[in-house]
Amino acid sequence: MTFPAPIRLGLNVDHVATVRNARGGAHPDPVRAALLAAAAGVDGITAHLREDRRHIRDADIARIRAEVALPLNFEMAATDEMVALALATKPHACCLVPERREERTTEGGLDAAGQAADLKPRIAALNAAGIRVSLFIAPDPAQIAAARALKAAVIELHTGAWCEALAAGRAAEAEAEFARLTAGAREAAALGLEVHAGHGLDYDTAERMARLPEIAELNIGHFMIGEAIFEGLDGVVRQMREAMERGRAAGGLAA
Ligand code: PXP
Repeated sequence: MTFPAPIRLGLNVDHVATVRNARGGAHPDPVRAALLAAAAGVDGITAHLREDRRHIRDADIARIRAEVALPLNFEMAATDEMVALALATKPHACCLVPERREERTTEGGLDAAGQAADLKPRIAALNAAGIRVSLFIAPDPAQIAAARALKAAVIELHTGAWCEALAAGRAAEAEAEFARLTAGAREAAALGLEVHAGHGLDYDTAERMARLPEIAELNIGHFMIGEAIFEGLDGVVRQMREAMERGRAAGGLAA
């Protein structure tokens, strides 16, 4: 591994579609945002096709695949419908996320341990098609072990609890969450899993996550799309990359 190890930035374009759908027309176009972000230097595009299609739609996924020359991280529930769509779409990766209450752990990530029997054949089908499978899980040793046992190549650590505690000024809880993320990243990497992270990240929290040398990719949506209203997407991508590079350069120092 070169030092500092590279870190990738994936932009989640769901919320461009959320704004589009508020009016029912075609504007703003999430594919245009993806193209702009690609030109500005993101490494990948994430889009979550929810079962209720509340933001991204099937046609958006097809257009991202056809028009954007970047890896697509197709976020989806682990259902037969979504696996069939993924096999037809052939994205670079599928990130399996919980959509129903009973699929979640207490921290909000996928309950990979509790849902193992359901997940196993679906992950096997995606693996067999050459699609990298990522499980969006809490930094919980049982979930990390389950991801390994289920032969997922990647885990995405859920940073939401940490970001929420920080934003609410619950400093002790935030530090405890960050310690869990740090330990989880280390443990997963030691098991041979590639480690990503996301949910609720902004410039400061992305910089801090980038200090963890095991983190290979951050997937960020809400903050970047929201901030683009004020700064423009191009400038936001640039500033986010700078924040991540600062964090990576400081990696190994106190997180
Ligand atoms: N990663 C995953 C798996 C997610 O579900 C989400 C939220 O859609 C994100 C990253 C991005 O989170 P945010 O929009 O809060 O940056």
